[in-house]
Amino acid sequence: MVVRILEQHMINSNFALEITGSQLFSRFARKEQEMEMRGKLLWHAQEELRHAMHYQLLMQKLGIPILNVHSKNSYPSYWAPVGADSSLVQFLAIVHALELRAPLYYQYHYDFTMHDEIKKLMKVLIADEDGHIEWIRQYLKAEQRKGNSEVKLAVETALKHEQAYYEGSFPLFAQFGEEGKKYLAILEADKQRAQTFVEQHMLSLIN
Ligand SMILES: [Fe+2]
Ligand SMILES: [Fe+2]
Repeated sequence: MVVRILEQHMINSNFALEITGSQLFSRFARKEQEMEMRGKLLWHAQEELRHAMHYQLLMQKLGIPILNVHSKNSYPSYWAPVGADSSLVQFLAIVHALELRAPLYYQYHYDFTMHDEIKKLMKVLIADEDGHIEWIRQYLKAEQRKGNSEVKLAVETALKHEQAYYEGSFPLFAQFGEEGKKYLAILEADKQRAQTFVEQHMLSLIN
């Protein structure tokens, strides 16, 4: 069974997002001076690298070609707000916002795909995300309780970025004709619920 072109794009860009996530966690782990936090960052780096490996193996197995998805990112790029001078709080707030929506995307892909192999992988990824979010959630809440004045703005900024990324993806999917329409219908059906979910979870970190 041929993997449809929209799915090829989603899988290629997910591979890129996972591997970049892993690189960013590695960068923060490298400069972290506190042992326990370094362990958490390193753990998360290898989690995202493992996800990239899952995609690599899937692509090999299903014969999905490597596509140049990077230069076509005309909408706010996923990891764009994370720069060389981002603090750990700013970085983790961004990760938290993005990872809240990640399992939803995997569920949409699960509903959209006709491939058992892809469905299987989506279930694996969905199960991993709870653990990814939880430790970051605990950390940001603890910092907020301690009176770290950085948390509020970092969380608000992260939420704004995530919303822009999410909204920006709609016209992108629309370029894929009938397949795009089918996928967008799945997204649209969940739009309201998903928005409330992401917003509530982000704002509960600071309220
Ligand atoms: Fe991941
Ligand atoms: Fe993750």
